Amino acid sequence: MTAPTDWPYPRWVAHRGAGKLAPENTLAAFRQGAALGYRAFECDVKLSADGVPFLLHDATLQRTTSATGNAGERPWNELSQLDAGSWHGRQFAGEPLPTLAGVAAFIQRNGLALNIEIKPTPGQEAVTGHVVAEHVARLWTGLAVPPLLSSFRPESLRAARAAAPQLPRALLIDTLWTGWFEMAASLGCVAVVTNHQLMDAALLARVHEAGWRAMVYTVNEPADAQRLLALGIDGLITDAVDRFAPAAD
Ligand code: G3P
Ligand code: MG
Repeated sequence: MTAPTDWPYPRWVAHRGAGKLAPENTLAAFRQGAALGYRAFECDVKLSADGVPFLLHDATLQRTTSATGNAGERPWNELSQLDAGSWHGRQFAGEPLPTLAGVAAFIQRNGLALNIEIKPTPGQEAVTGHVVAEHVARLWTGLAVPPLLSSFRPESLRAARAAAPQLPRALLIDTLWTGWFEMAASLGCVAVVTNHQLMDAALLARVHEAGWRAMVYTVNEPADAQRLLALGIDGLITDAVDRFAPAAD
């Protein structure tokens, strides 16, 4: 069965901005990915203590910023002062944590597509989904291609749907847990995004037969990419933006 139509997203998606070439989830990473020809980007979004959506993968600050502790306990006026670049290399010293609004401006000015992974601080699943969807609906008003909202947390997608039902949603799954298919259906998802090792012809057919698209993360080896492209995968999220040329898509 062929894949459903009406899918506006490029097949190749740069993970966390530009994978590992620049500090993840910063505008420096988005610039790097865009310079290499990427037209679609994945990033992780959570909330500051005062409800500002911003980019960060971990719940804590220490791996990728100059601070320590739980990111979600800090107000944005503190988070905005942190150095989110020096951990990666001195050429990125002072690179700030971006807000979702800042990323929206970069994406829109360059005509790019975005996959926002709603990555809530534990315990903030619903509020994060709600606030992120509200911001996305406002920031992308009137634009043809809204961001795809994805999450491992069904509560976040449920809250996103309540806040902005028109935005496309995707369930992220790392294992084929009991009930994942019914959950994606009940959340009104247009896609599922799986660990690439889970994806095979049978799973892809099941996803497409449901009328959904299938994306995979995080594909960094050429042999894996070849296997998935041969299956007919709809989207590949990769760190290896210097290895895979999206123009070859
Ligand atoms: O959105 C796909 C992928 O980013 C999920 O895993 O941990 O890299 O956010 P992670
Ligand atoms: Mg992610």
